[in-house]
Amino acid sequence: MAKDSDARSQGLRRGITNYGDVDFGFFLRRSFASSMGYSAAMLERPIVGICQSTSGFNNCHRHMPELIEAVKRGVLSAGGLPIDFPTISLGEVFLVPTSLKYRNLMSMDVEEMIRAQPMDAVVLVGGCDKTVPAQLMGAASANIPSIQLVTGPMSTNKFHGERLGACTDCRRFWGRYRAGEISQGEVRAVENRLATTSGTCAVMGTASTMASVAEALGMMPPGAAAYTASDSERLRIGEETGRVAMELVKSKICPSDVMTQAAFENALRVLLAIGGSTNAIIHVTAIAGRLGVEIDLRRLNELSDTTPVLIDLKPTGSYYMEDLAAAGGIPAVMRELAPLLNLDCLTVSGNTIRDQINAWDKWVDRNVIRTLENPLQPEGGLIAVFGNIAPNGAILKRSAASPELFESEGRCVVFNSLEDLATRIDDPNLEVTPNDILVLKNAGPSSDAAMPEAGYLPIPQKLARAGIKDMIRISDARMSGTAYGTIVLHVSPDSVSGGPLSVVQTGDRIRLSVKEKRLDVLLDDQELKARLDHPESQSARVVNRRGYGWLYDTFITQADKGCDFEFLRNSLATFDTRD
Ligand code: FES
Repeated sequence: MAKDSDARSQGLRRGITNYGDVDFGFFLRRSFASSMGYSAAMLERPIVGICQSTSGFNNCHRHMPELIEAVKRGVLSAGGLPIDFPTISLGEVFLVPTSLKYRNLMSMDVEEMIRAQPMDAVVLVGGCDKTVPAQLMGAASANIPSIQLVTGPMSTNKFHGERLGACTDCRRFWGRYRAGEISQGEVRAVENRLATTSGTCAVMGTASTMASVAEALGMMPPGAAAYTASDSERLRIGEETGRVAMELVKSKICPSDVMTQAAFENALRVLLAIGGSTNAIIHVTAIAGRLGVEIDLRRLNELSDTTPVLIDLKPTGSYYMEDLAAAGGIPAVMRELAPLLNLDCLTVSGNTIRDQINAWDKWVDRNVIRTLENPLQPEGGLIAVFGNIAPNGAILKRSAASPELFESEGRCVVFNSLEDLATRIDDPNLEVTPNDILVLKNAGPSSDAAMPEAGYLPIPQKLARAGIKDMIRISDARMSGTAYGTIVLHVSPDSVSGGPLSVVQTGDRIRLSVKEKRLDVLLDDQELKARLDHPESQSARVVNRRGYGWLYDTFITQADKGCDFEFLRNSLATFDTRD
């Protein structure tokens, strides 16, 4: 916990702007703060910053102003002064080339604005996929008392009597359209029914996964991950978050006290038990990396082999986030997992995980949240595979994959880029069979494409029309948390940085073994080395010459390091921000 600071360094007195005269600096600050209509008594209160990410380009944050009002009520009622401030916002579908490219930029914005402005604690209000990890990364680096609040998931709707929610159903309907099962008119009609409320995607996609991870880490009040954006409980959680932030001002519990190695293991257990998004591995690795905690993919496999999937939510199962909230939420999942968790981990409330799950309502809907004895799947949702094309690992979401493809060998059909994929995937002359393995190269973190969610390669149209629903697909790209299929992602090192994936060619044979957690191209070592040594086999890397693009291209790390910038990792070892 942070060292004690006396009242002279609290609230508005924190970090006085430097004019060479501290008293003048404070006089000026109080004078300008008064111009906003605050009374002198208000300006004496501790300050809770509210780091908000509202944007017209972020549909998932549409109701954030109302949520922030609720947080302010909580802070005011507990004797603090709430002051909200903006950072950049990352609306998943509005950013090019990818939102991941800008996650680190947002994390720097969050870190620096927390550090630069006078606040005794901060509430981080995010929701869409990259905003929550960016806020947790920034707060971990700034390391002042912090609490996360998420906007909550969307509610579901119906089309022709069928229940729908973004975005697993988006992909399902698009797949049916590509296969010729539904018309263009029908797919256009569905478009207006998939995402009909504010909030984040309605299934266990990346946003819901990261909300669940934040709760499992102890950075949010219990139950805060799953209630929908439009549920009045969401506003009560906002109010409660404001009150807890004021408790944090007193307790001085910092992110490094909560997000410990043991807490990250809890978060990984929960991630595995909820069949969470593959993206979360990258984000958890990046958040942990800020605090000097390494996420080892071989340890992930040990956890995965001993953590069953407990919840029946899309894309792994049948239900939606609103059903998880009604079924008991993440605290009910954690109570099931209790024998596997580190229950003494501290949370932002000052209680332990054990206290929280013991205090939670004991009623559980067993249709949605299963027991350890009767899980949805006996093993965890995600595994890492290693081999001669993925020496530093790759990720497979086995809970959303086809078990009949788990032990497979096939001829690969290689696409050299996203453009090549778009040009050829539906070519009727493409030589491809259902037993082939589709490979996409040059779409990793080092590529110009900045690791898009393109790992969910479409089934070639001629095979889709013949009824093929799944094939093994391998890439250095990512996949949306709402997607499904036998898809190997995050191959590390990626092709643009010269990883072995870069030399795989159409006609090579690849073997995947989920049992052995292996992924290999069936070439002998000499042949692989000869190809890697051949200069023409290396893809040219384009490096931006200015601005954030230069920063990204120069310092981006690989997926197994969380795609963070090297100079932002392990921040506490290089910069102790505590009072
Ligand atoms: Fe924001 Fe899915 S687009 S959570």
